[in-house]
Amino acid sequence: MTISLFDEKNLIDPYPVYRKLRAESPVHFVPEMNFHVVTRYQLIRQVLRDTKVYSSKFADFMAGLAMAAFESASSSTQEKVAAIQGQMLPPIPTMLTEDPPVQTMYRSLVAMLFTASQVNKTEPQVVEVVEKTIDHLGDLTSLDFMREFAFPIPLEIIGKRLGIPEELVEKFNICATSAAGTLRLSPLTEPQLIDRAQKALDLEQMLIRLIDDRRRDPKDDMITILATSKLEKEDRLLEYNEMLSILNQFLVAGHETTTSTFGWGMLLLCRNPKLQEDLQADPSQIPVFVEEVLRLETPVQGLPRLVTEDTMLGDYPLKAGDVIFSHYGSANRDDEKFEDPEVCVLGRKGAGAHLSFGSGVHACPGSSLARQELNRGFEAFLAHAKNFRLDEAFPDPVSEPSIILRALPELHIKFDLK
Ligand code: HEM
Repeated sequence: MTISLFDEKNLIDPYPVYRKLRAESPVHFVPEMNFHVVTRYQLIRQVLRDTKVYSSKFADFMAGLAMAAFESASSSTQEKVAAIQGQMLPPIPTMLTEDPPVQTMYRSLVAMLFTASQVNKTEPQVVEVVEKTIDHLGDLTSLDFMREFAFPIPLEIIGKRLGIPEELVEKFNICATSAAGTLRLSPLTEPQLIDRAQKALDLEQMLIRLIDDRRRDPKDDMITILATSKLEKEDRLLEYNEMLSILNQFLVAGHETTTSTFGWGMLLLCRNPKLQEDLQADPSQIPVFVEEVLRLETPVQGLPRLVTEDTMLGDYPLKAGDVIFSHYGSANRDDEKFEDPEVCVLGRKGAGAHLSFGSGVHACPGSSLARQELNRGFEAFLAHAKNFRLDEAFPDPVSEPSIILRALPELHIKFDLK
C-alpha cells in the first residue's frame, strides 16, 4: 500500500489517509521518514502504557527533523546560529523526552503546579483575561478569531501563571511565541533560523534572571515554586538547565496547543449552526463540546517513540532501534473506540477518553489548565455573541501543514452581538 501521509495535502487534511491506514495497515512503514506510523486507538494505548519497550528519548530524532531545515542553510547562517546557541546552557531532557524514573522525578515536582487547588486558585485570573480580551473587542462583529482571541488568551495566562513581570511581558510574548513555533516543524528561512536562535537565548536569559529574583524574593507564581522546591529523591533545588527545560515545555507544549483548540472549536461552530443553538440554549454542555473539539481535531496530531527491543505491536514485528509515530489524531477517530467518530456529539458518554492529552505516565500535566481556559473562553464568547459564521470575504480556512501541531493560522469570522 502506497501512502503519502506527509505530503502537503495530507498534512492539511490527514483524516482520509488515517481512515485507510486504520482499515488496511494500522502499523505502517513510511520509507521517506524512516519510521512506522501507528493509527489504531488500542495499539497506541499499548505503546503509551509500555514505557520500557517504547521509549520517549526522542530528543535526537526531533532535533534531526529540525536539522533538515538547518543543514540546507549557508555556512555563514549555520555559524551565526551555532555562535548564539553556544551562549546557551546545554539542554537537558526532563519530561517529554525522558523515561521513568528520571521523568517521574520531575513530574512529581511539576504536579505541584497543577494541583486542583492551584488550578481553582487561578480560575479568577483566567476569567479576568478572557473578559478583558472580549471587552477589548468592543462592538466588532467581524475579526480574525485566531489573532484577537485564540492566540492572546493562552499566552497571557501562561505569562501570568509563570509570574512574568509587567515590564517584561512584551518581550516574553515575542520570545515565547517563537519557542512555541518549534512544534510546528515548518521550514524556516535563514533569517528566521537566526532570529529563532536569538529569541531562544533572550528567553533563557530572561528566565534565569527571574529564577534568581524568585529565590531571593519568593512570590505566588510558578517560577517561584520551581525555583524554591526540592527534588524529593535527591534533596536538592533544580539546576538552571532543568528549570529551563521544564519552562520551555510549558511554552512549547502548552501555548499553541490551546490556541489551536480554540480555533478548531470556533470553526466547528461556524460550520454547524445547530451546535451553536444547542450550546447557547444549554451552556452546561460546553465542557463536552470542548472534549469533542479536542478529540476531533487533536492539536498534537502525534508523537514519536523509540523501540528499545524486538517486539510485536498487534501482529506487526518491530525491531530494537525502530522509530514509531503514534497518530493521536487517528486514534481519536477510530470507530472501534468511538461511535460516530467523525461528528461532534454533545451527549457522548466518555467524551474525555480521547488521546489528545496523551495517556499514561506522559499524559499532559497541563490538561486541567487547558480545559479551564477553553471552557471559560467558549462560555464567555458564546455569551457575548451569536450567529457565528465564516467571513466570505476570505478564503476557506485551512490548517498549516505540520507533522505534529495542527493549527489554523487565521480564522476570519462574523457574528452578531447579543
Ligand atoms: C489543549 C492544550 C494541550 C494539548 C492538546 C496538550 C497535549 C499534550 C500531549 C499529547 C502530551 C503527551 C506527550 C506524549 O505522549 O509524550 C502533553 C504533554 C505535556 N504537556 Fe500538554 N497539552 C496541552 C496543554 C498544556 C499546557 C497548558 C501545559 C502547561 C502549561 C502543558 C504542558 C505539558 C508538559 C510539560 C508535557 C510533558 C509531560 C511528560 O512528558 O511527562 N500542556 N501535552
